[in-house]
Amino acid sequence: MANQLFDFGLIGLGVMGRNLLLNMADHGFAVIGYNRSPQKVTELESEIVPGTTVKGTSDLAEMVNALKSPRRIMMLVQAGNPVDQVLEELIPLLSKGDIIIDGGNSHYTDTLRRVKYMQDKGFHFMGVGVSGGEEGARRGPSIMPGGDPEAYPHVQPMLEAVSAKVNGEPCVAHLGKGAAGHYVKMVHNGIEYGIMQLISEVYDVLHRGYGLDNDELHEVFKQWNEGELQSFLVEITRDIFLKKDDKTGKRLVDVILDKAGSKGTGKWTSQDAMDLGIAIPTIDIAVSMRNLSALKSERVAASKIYTSPVKITGISKEEIIAEARAALFFGTLISYAQGLALLYVASKEYDMEIPLPQVVKIWRGGCIIRSTLLEVYYKAYTANPSLSNILLDTNIAELIKSREANTRKFVSKASLSGIPVAGLSVSLGYYDAYRSETMPTNLIQAQRDFFGAHTFQRVDEEGIFHAQWQ
Ligand code: 6PG
Repeated sequence: MANQLFDFGLIGLGVMGRNLLLNMADHGFAVIGYNRSPQKVTELESEIVPGTTVKGTSDLAEMVNALKSPRRIMMLVQAGNPVDQVLEELIPLLSKGDIIIDGGNSHYTDTLRRVKYMQDKGFHFMGVGVSGGEEGARRGPSIMPGGDPEAYPHVQPMLEAVSAKVNGEPCVAHLGKGAAGHYVKMVHNGIEYGIMQLISEVYDVLHRGYGLDNDELHEVFKQWNEGELQSFLVEITRDIFLKKDDKTGKRLVDVILDKAGSKGTGKWTSQDAMDLGIAIPTIDIAVSMRNLSALKSERVAASKIYTSPVKITGISKEEIIAEARAALFFGTLISYAQGLALLYVASKEYDMEIPLPQVVKIWRGGCIIRSTLLEVYYKAYTANPSLSNILLDTNIAELIKSREANTRKFVSKASLSGIPVAGLSVSLGYYDAYRSETMPTNLIQAQRDFFGAHTFQRVDEEGIFHAQWQ
């Protein structure tokens, strides 16, 4: 029937939505996109590739009525209230059994609420993480669907077709129950925050501390991207150093104000880890450093009171670059370890049944944190799917141990010169605590019992004890 032509509908024709829709059309699906603004519809239609079936509309009912049954509709709208508003507009137009996908960065608790709300009305609702930015959406993102196992087979062929591929395998897999898809995407972004912070610290030490210019930094990141540090984030950093500012002719990176924004997913990762009692300090510090960066005028005032960082001397360029490389590798691995350890616990606590081998498998391509390291984690989880922390894998342990000495040297040089490397130091601190058979928390327990009768356990006897300290 002429009014039931389309395989897939998409609400929200921003660049991500538009690109994802065009990507689906490239793979032979007939797609229709809706946006309230006719201008967005025109933008979509101006990019249609000849021979593909794509239609745009600013009439929501027209889109819904033009879809095959059960309808498959993805929303790519701003997280928060807009998702609920769109759902309310959609509901009167839907039929029982229709499948609605939220492909945005929604908070997982909102997704859980919406799953229940839509289920009660007879619809399927899935929270699906999509990573890879605008380019990824067009050429192949990493896709993290979760929830509703009944609905998944209806969207699986499309998601597999449009996703990135690694060794011919799609970077999409069903990642568990409830809001698992959005939870995994949230943690993906937390790891992303961690790695971005570590890269920025290494840049700061090499640039401000050691004096490497943008061309030298480009060369360093270029070389790194050809080795064990190969990753999307290292690759784009390499290219960032060469980009010129149209206005001034200077390098663009040098005219960008040092205040980082954030949309919330990193903070949510930290908040949830705190609630679950899981240590993810590299991610926490990455969130905190973005917050501190926002206090530009206060930092300028403080810089007048306290002494400035001093240059790092007494080491060759080759050596400092080698130390930096090891430190970035070390910190990056720890950032993944913390995020994955959070997923391990959250999966159990929230009964999400997240398959960690699948998570790292689909992160190998398309997403912002894709890197050659993911292959190493995939091997580790394939050997032991219930690994609570990748640092317990013996191959990974060797990788970390062989970078430990250089990481310590790099962090101490940065510290002596006064360049902030909070992410790298906390990654090292996490590692040192995690591998410590004993921690000084016996003293903390003694103090708690001293002032609050909070009790303690003993090393030599079962039970709960309290002492008269005075
Ligand atoms: C991705 C990105 C994407 C987005 C983040 C950035 O995986 O494609 O993570 O989700 O760029 O929202 O988050 P901040 O604005 O918080 O840095």
